[in-house]
Amino acid sequence: MINVIGLGYIGLPTALMMASHGVEVIGTDSNKELVATLNVGHATFKEGGLDELFQDALKAGIKFTTEYQVTDTYIVSVPTPYDKFSKKVDACYVVAAVIDVLKVAPKGATLVVESTVSPGTIEKSVRPVLVEENREDINLVHAPERIIPGNMVYELLHNNRTIGVDDKAIGAKVKDLYASFCQGEIVVTDIKTAEMTKVVENTFRAVNIAFANELAKICRHDNMDVYEIIKICNMHPRVNILQPGPGVGGHCISVDPWFLVGDYPSLAKVIDESMKTNDGMPDFVLNRIYEIMKEKGMTDITRVGLYGLTYKENVDDMRASPTLQLLESQERHLATGLKVYDPFITKDVVANQYHDLDTFLSAVDFVVIMVKHNEIKENIDKLAGKIVLDCYNICKQEGTYRI
Ligand SMILES: NC(=O)c1ccc[n+]([C@@H]2O[C@H](COP(=O)([O-])OP(=O)(O)OC[C@H]3O[C@@H](n4cnc5c(N)ncnc54)[C@H](O)[C@@H]3O)[C@@H](O)[C@H]2O)c1
Repeated sequence: MINVIGLGYIGLPTALMMASHGVEVIGTDSNKELVATLNVGHATFKEGGLDELFQDALKAGIKFTTEYQVTDTYIVSVPTPYDKFSKKVDACYVVAAVIDVLKVAPKGATLVVESTVSPGTIEKSVRPVLVEENREDINLVHAPERIIPGNMVYELLHNNRTIGVDDKAIGAKVKDLYASFCQGEIVVTDIKTAEMTKVVENTFRAVNIAFANELAKICRHDNMDVYEIIKICNMHPRVNILQPGPGVGGHCISVDPWFLVGDYPSLAKVIDESMKTNDGMPDFVLNRIYEIMKEKGMTDITRVGLYGLTYKENVDDMRASPTLQLLESQERHLATGLKVYDPFITKDVVANQYHDLDTFLSAVDFVVIMVKHNEIKENIDKLAGKIVLDCYNICKQEGTYRI
């Protein structure tokens, strides 16, 4: 039996996927409300295919509880934020979960950390807990997760995976467990390599996004069309530039690269600058809004609306999203009044929030496309007659402003 600890965006789909592939699973989360919701058969977030997977897992007998279980295998998928000052990974949730696992784990149990951590974290922060508790019989494993919100179910099934272990025999056992559902290739390596690969993958994305964002700034400064330039450059056989955007949010690309800056401050220079570039994009968009308002002779900020609150399209996850960053930045400048709408966010989470596209559009003259949800792509004609700042180059209307 597997006890999955932490049933958020990663732990829940993982637990459901294993259960629906014949593995006996009990999911544990310290959040009582979340467990109560799962126990009445409701997923706690929206994700394509998740409800169906939930039903399959329920039929297969998955259970949810706040209690840690006595079993031979644990999978820990709790948050790993970064310390805003030092930029280092904050492993306190992982350490707390490990301490609780040790209270119930039988001798020789396997403890898989799925949470993303910086290289050396398991050695520096987790193994000492085992030593202190005299539990060196526990087999530590690191199996970082790569799935992307919006395509989680498909990616859980098809992505390649990495498993970091001390001991090859444990590696083979854990590989078999993931192979129960994973159709991708599963590579077994050592723990520190597995830790580093996950952080490097997200850092690669962050640096490449930052490059596109920097090009957008250069092109804006000297009145060049960044999209046309990227399109032409990408016709070169060895060039593949990403698209610029209004910033980076979520819990991976906007967080994990900081771990390397925190741990290797004198070495991770490109990464540091890239993260600063991406973090500066919401402010850059805010400046564009003011520039365009000035150009159009607009003075009333309450007639400007931000379309989209989530950190990426077609999901309901708005953690650290560019829109939230932009609103925070606006507040720091002692300004308020921007209107906001997102079809995926049904609860009121910010001021001046709307819950219907038409009502939102009728309340504003200037729309800023902050997220390219399918909804706005399918209703792009409704922007006719509005001033539009399009952060994704999806609106072909004459006179559309771009970042
Ligand atoms: N969200 C993503 O897209 C994504 C992708 C790949 C990897 N990751 C990594 O996966 C890990 C988990 O991220 P997430 O997005 O699922 O986080 P999350 O915040 O959605 O979920 C974490 C869950 O852990 C629970 N929890 C915290 N401490 C606990 C404890 N001691 N015992 C039991 N439950 C506890 C919380 O209540 C919460 O429900 C992080 O390290 C993250 O970096 C996330």
